[in-house]
Amino acid sequence: MNFDRVKTEDNSFTLYSDEYKQHYHSIHGACTESRHIFIDLGLKSIDKDEISVLEVGFGTGLNAILTYEENIIQGKKIFYHGIDVNPVSKEVFMQMEFEKFLSDKKTDFSLFYDNWNLEVNLNDKFVLLKQVVDLQLFTTERKYDVIYFDAFSPEVQPEMWSVETFKKLSTLLLTGGILVTYCSKGLVKENLRNSGFIVKRFPGPPGKRHVLRATKF
Ligand SMILES: C[S@@+](CC[C@H](N)C(=O)[O-])C[C@H]1O[C@@H](n2cnc3c(N)ncnc32)[C@H](O)[C@@H]1O
Repeated sequence: MNFDRVKTEDNSFTLYSDEYKQHYHSIHGACTESRHIFIDLGLKSIDKDEISVLEVGFGTGLNAILTYEENIIQGKKIFYHGIDVNPVSKEVFMQMEFEKFLSDKKTDFSLFYDNWNLEVNLNDKFVLLKQVVDLQLFTTERKYDVIYFDAFSPEVQPEMWSVETFKKLSTLLLTGGILVTYCSKGLVKENLRNSGFIVKRFPGPPGKRHVLRATKF
């Protein structure tokens, strides 16, 4: 698997996947995009003291790192479950230089990558579990407050954006739980609605007109 590191417009790095011919994040700002969609429209909209997050497509770990950092301010209890069918190597992970987003330099940054399949307490408010698994085969007894849905686009991974997949994701959410994603294509909205979600569009980060938040009812 070949990945090239690319600097984006806010100076944070992303990766280019040769296999999917796509970047992992927006080239107009990887960190800006992740904060806007997953932290501001996702995490911050959950009005609870204990929050469980499922990230589909853990990738470089950027969303987990930004969630951890936001929670230094929020002080909630977070259980963060990231899954990925094809994680990047540790070497690639380190090359992303996302450690710079951590304000508490006592945090052991390597724990965002190491210890797959183990629940790791990053601090007393944040548990991280990373699992190598294909979403289509993923099973769990857990229910989540929010799903960060960060697969590659529908053009290259249509099965990830299908009614079948969204129905599965709906079963993983608590009632009133939300799914946030960067893609607002008509077919994605339609498939979400046909899977038991109320779909709302929001202004996107730089370079993207709209993004979506879907609520399970
Ligand atoms: C757009 S990138 C995700 C970016 C990631 N959230 C980040 O911040 O680096 C898509 C990710 O989805 C993963 N993926 C693709 N198909 C998947 C599947 N069926 N199940 C789980 N993960 C999948 C890929 O391996 C890749 O890491």
